[in-house]
Amino acid sequence: MTALKKEDVRADFTIDQPVATYTAEDHETWRTLFRRQAEILKGRACDEYLDGLEGLGVAADGIPDFRKLSEVLTKATGWSVVAVPGLVPDDVFFDHLANRRFPATWWIRKPEQMDYLEEPDVFHDLYGHVPLLMNPVMADFVAEYGKGGVKALKLGALPNLARLYWYTVEFGLMETPKGMRIYGAGIMSSKSESIYALESPSPNRVRFDLMRVMRTRYRIDTFQNTYFVIRSFEELFKATSPDFTPLYKALQKQPEIGAGDIVEGDKVVHRGTREGWAETPDA
Ligand SMILES: [Fe+2]
Repeated sequence: MTALKKEDVRADFTIDQPVATYTAEDHETWRTLFRRQAEILKGRACDEYLDGLEGLGVAADGIPDFRKLSEVLTKATGWSVVAVPGLVPDDVFFDHLANRRFPATWWIRKPEQMDYLEEPDVFHDLYGHVPLLMNPVMADFVAEYGKGGVKALKLGALPNLARLYWYTVEFGLMETPKGMRIYGAGIMSSKSESIYALESPSPNRVRFDLMRVMRTRYRIDTFQNTYFVIRSFEELFKATSPDFTPLYKALQKQPEIGAGDIVEGDKVVHRGTREGWAETPDA
């Protein structure tokens, strides 16, 4: 992360991607991460993701230029990628999504942070998120999520809505005719979680249910205790289409669910063994 001057950051928190500041080591980090994930994601990532990655031409040879990516992405689904210095305020983030602009962090992790990052970097944001924005249904879902976010802020329901994003866009799994697959970006960009989420007996895997998800706390410091499973992006889009206002009202009367809890009514695909779960509280 080189020093960005305050005046370089626009009111919507975007900047020009400082392409010239990437070092040879930065590009090498990208290549290492890219090569490693390509191997791991074979038979683990959903087809929609792999198609998107191929269609985008996110190259193995170095950190991509956001403008070139955006040209391809805009043609496919009307989305573009804009560079930001890091996490942006919620209202700004939602406004970008609602307008089909994906805010991507421009900087890349250091070699000693290969496997653990506290904040998303360009590898997570581009490699994890952008390929699925090539898919028309996901492209619409994320834009609708942005509009929903603007509304949720006004209704004071952000914690509920944020769980939907967390358990789908970041950590979602999909049951496909070929088997269980990953679609969440948080899993997709992590070597160890892409194996853990699918293959470990430790976490729960539960069928997606909108209200259940919006009640469920999550882990920010460890792998997830529970992954929610959809069957298709169409299912997800349909389930989240109705107005959330009455749902938020109903949620106020329902208790939260712990990140690792199984509750009555759950359609359990796999009940986790809870092995290795942290004792620290969930978020
Ligand atoms: Fe993310």
